Amino acid sequence: MQILRIDSSTTGDQSITRKLTDELLTHFTTKYPDAKVVTRDLVAEPLAHIDPITTSAIRTPPETHEEAVAAAYPEERAVLDEFLASDVVIVGAPMYNFSIPSQLKAWIDRLGVPGVTFRYSAEGPEGLAGGRKVVVGSARGGAYSTDQIAENQESLLATFFGFIGVDDLHFVRVEKAGFGPDAIAAGMEAAKQEIARL
Ligand SMILES: Cc1cc2nc3c(=O)[nH]c(=O)nc-3n(C[C@H](O)[C@H](O)[C@H](O)COP(=O)(O)O)c2cc1C
Repeated sequence: MQILRIDSSTTGDQSITRKLTDELLTHFTTKYPDAKVVTRDLVAEPLAHIDPITTSAIRTPPETHEEAVAAAYPEERAVLDEFLASDVVIVGAPMYNFSIPSQLKAWIDRLGVPGVTFRYSAEGPEGLAGGRKVVVGSARGGAYSTDQIAENQESLLATFFGFIGVDDLHFVRVEKAGFGPDAIAAGMEAAKQEIARL
């Protein structure tokens, strides 16, 4: 049993998503006391944006790798293996400019791997990375669930994880973070109740 915690907020001690990932980790380690916990802070230790070498390392068979790609492969593959070895994945995902932080996108770019996490067949795309629970701790300044404003944060994550076969996917969110402390406190309280039900 492995729990993976991912953080991507750049707002330090003020971060709401880091409070959510804290709460989520406490919840799941209480529920599964013997679980191994792996954490990846994508701000403290960022993954580089993908480039020609890392793209080849991630997406082409090892036996075809040239020297530079072969050298990059173990570190790139480790990110994917860490995800695949995890039964519960907690993802801290703030909304930054209507999307996710680029640090988080760099992590996702290591997970969408043809032949490993998805494949195409005559029937269409097939996700291969199911069998785990993914819980996203989401925070945003405005209210998107009620105001029906287009966003590419939760929707991107829902599309991505759905595509790779994760059907046990949950969002725990604090909205209206920009409305002040009362709105944040109310959002956190509601989120904690949501977490208790997971
Ligand atoms: C760089 C940056 C960009 C942001 N862009 C948006 C945005 O497009 N829409 C929004 O509703 N809130 C936006 N916000 C507000 C954050 O979503 C909100 O403060 C949230 O709490 C961030 O998560 P965090 O506290 O874990 O960093 C932005 C905040 C930052 C720091």
